[in-house]
Amino acid sequence: MSTRAAGSVLLRHLGPRVFGPVLSPAAASPRPPLALAGGGERGWVAVWVRLLSTSAAEAKDETAASKGNAGSTAAAKAEAAEAAKEGDGKRDKVVSSYWGVAPSKLMSKDGVEWRWSCFRPWEAYKPDTSIDLTRHHEPKVLLDKIAYWTVKLLRVPTDIFFQRRYGCRAMMLETVAAVPGMVGGMLLHLRSLRRFEHGGGWIRALLEEAENERMHLMTFMEVAKPKWYERALVLAVQGVFFNAYFLGYLISPKFAHRVVGYLEEEAIHSYTEYLKDLEAGKIENVPAPAIAIDYWQLPADATLKDVVIVVRSDEAHHRDVNHFASDIHFQGMQLKETPAPLGYH
Ligand SMILES: [Fe+2]
Ligand SMILES: [Fe+2]
Repeated sequence: MSTRAAGSVLLRHLGPRVFGPVLSPAAASPRPPLALAGGGERGWVAVWVRLLSTSAAEAKDETAASKGNAGSTAAAKAEAAEAAKEGDGKRDKVVSSYWGVAPSKLMSKDGVEWRWSCFRPWEAYKPDTSIDLTRHHEPKVLLDKIAYWTVKLLRVPTDIFFQRRYGCRAMMLETVAAVPGMVGGMLLHLRSLRRFEHGGGWIRALLEEAENERMHLMTFMEVAKPKWYERALVLAVQGVFFNAYFLGYLISPKFAHRVVGYLEEEAIHSYTEYLKDLEAGKIENVPAPAIAIDYWQLPADATLKDVVIVVRSDEAHHRDVNHFASDIHFQGMQLKETPAPLGYH
């Protein structure tokens, strides 16, 4: 059996459970009614399928919404109105729920119904692309040098694996980039609970960073579709990286933030190379995904190049936040002693 065939068999069986529903046409199709009564074991299997396919329906809705450009065009408005009409039926069912937790109808600034469930209109922003991209933290002390060379070493296998496939590279690296903020935020949250003390806004700042990185991933997913072995790689890398960063942050947040600062410097470099290939015509400068237009408030005719520019400026902001956080620790202080750079985009 060839590697490809083996991969297909593995995916058919494990795909829906491990990677979520995107790979599984069966999971993405309309859900069959549950047959719990008298269903025995099969009934429970149906429950599992249904639980796992919850995000499938959302993903499907959003993918459908992402076809075409942002809500500023007439076509998009018509499409959104149609989607809203279709959605009304579903929403009615939710509103009738006893719990009354259904979200209220949201509108975009163009007056069309908000189409994204993964972020809200007030979470969209215009990024500051004037940020200095060349800023670099010179590693002088041993800990900084270790952080710097750790990141440089990690770059070697990444370069070998992806080479100049920047779309794919961006998508895969964003799956890793969204981990440190969540781990750091979680550990600061737990510390705040344990010690009965304020967090200085850093919990939210780090979670904001994680969310921003996840939106990068949601965007690049529209540009590059991951292959089965890339999804498997993400699974393995996440398992290792989450635990390594968790331990690293427990032992030395100063080191952990410095590593992220250098990772962000590398991300800026990678996105600059991506831009070079887009400008040289080596990569097609396709229209920007609708989710990116809405998230970064880009013009309706924005292209992939515009998206890479705003993502790169986000990375520059993350670089500054993480080097700043590490500097605070280097000065012998806790993060909570310095107000966090909330909403720093
Ligand atoms: Fe990112
Ligand atoms: Fe980043």
